[in-house]
Amino acid sequence: MNEDSMARLAVDYDRIRSDLADSFDEEFEVAMDEERLDRMLFGANQPPTGADIERGVYFRELFRLQRELVRLQDWVQAQKLKVVVLFEGRDSAGKGGAIKRITQRLNPRVCRVVALPAPSERERSQWYFQRYVPHLPAGGEMVLFDRSWYNRAGVERVMGFCSETEVEEFFRSVPEFERMLVRSGVVLIKYWFSITDEEQEFRFNMRIHDPLKQWKLSPMDVESRRRWEDYTRAKEAMLERTHIPEAPWWVVEAVDKKKARLNCIRHLLDQIPYGEVEKPLVTLPGRVR
Ligand code: ADP
Ligand code: AMP
Ligand code: MLT
Repeated sequence: MNEDSMARLAVDYDRIRSDLADSFDEEFEVAMDEERLDRMLFGANQPPTGADIERGVYFRELFRLQRELVRLQDWVQAQKLKVVVLFEGRDSAGKGGAIKRITQRLNPRVCRVVALPAPSERERSQWYFQRYVPHLPAGGEMVLFDRSWYNRAGVERVMGFCSETEVEEFFRSVPEFERMLVRSGVVLIKYWFSITDEEQEFRFNMRIHDPLKQWKLSPMDVESRRRWEDYTRAKEAMLERTHIPEAPWWVVEAVDKKKARLNCIRHLLDQIPYGEVEKPLVTLPGRVR
């Protein structure tokens, strides 16, 4: 190797390093944003929850899991799998943060997020599952639902947006609906993000005091704190009555956000046995300058 090519290689190394760092920065930015208020309130070295795992350990494991998610994505595409993952849990449980880490390195055409707003008048008059159905995956797609049809057993029930008759009908239909999906070849995975009363209060307080996060605190959220006990009853009924062998619930302990994300991604990867997809080595065409 002559000096010229050595020099070029060194330049390339620098560029590779900065390109990699740039990709890692993306996660740092998200993490810094989350910790910004913690630092303002508690100083640089005192995060509020002592249970938090060390950052370096967290990042290394997250990046490893994200590489595995890319392999899973290749497998889903190659095998034309249809994957549906539901994320449920109380407000501020960390569903959004986990979803963000899962999608961060993936192709949005393969893995997309569905977060539906409150139903319109028209949708309210339809079959309850109708507005969710158009978002289900075709072969080679993964769809992550940030809240799902389970709204009926949770927020809608507790806030009185539907009648108890409608809730009963939901509990009757949901196992049938999900069995139909599974029989049609959909891989259906359901997560409940679980936080404590104290942790939710802490997170809501953080939102109240953070100008960048105040928008996240809806009047519904405040009301949902008042109705903590109702939510607990609704959650218990939901988990009990919709936990079916074809589509069981998995509870993610979510007071420690970082552990929750890693555990959830690790578990998700375990649910789908994926293999290596053989791909031809890509070379870029040369250019004559
Ligand atoms: P976020 O999901 O950001 O926490 P909210 O706390 O405002 O949003 O609402 C929680 C859930 O309740 C959302 O999925 C929303 O679609 C649903 N929702 C809000 N209002 C109604 C309503 N009137 N009827 C049915 N569902 C509703
Ligand atoms: P109970 O009165 O505890 O016997 O409740 C009977 C069922 O109704 C349980 O499954 C409760 O979860 C449910 N339930 C009744 N009212 C509410 C409510 N406001 N919020 C949540 N669940 C409710
Ligand atoms: C979550 O973190 O669970 C979601 O973002 C819901 C919310 O913002 O309250």
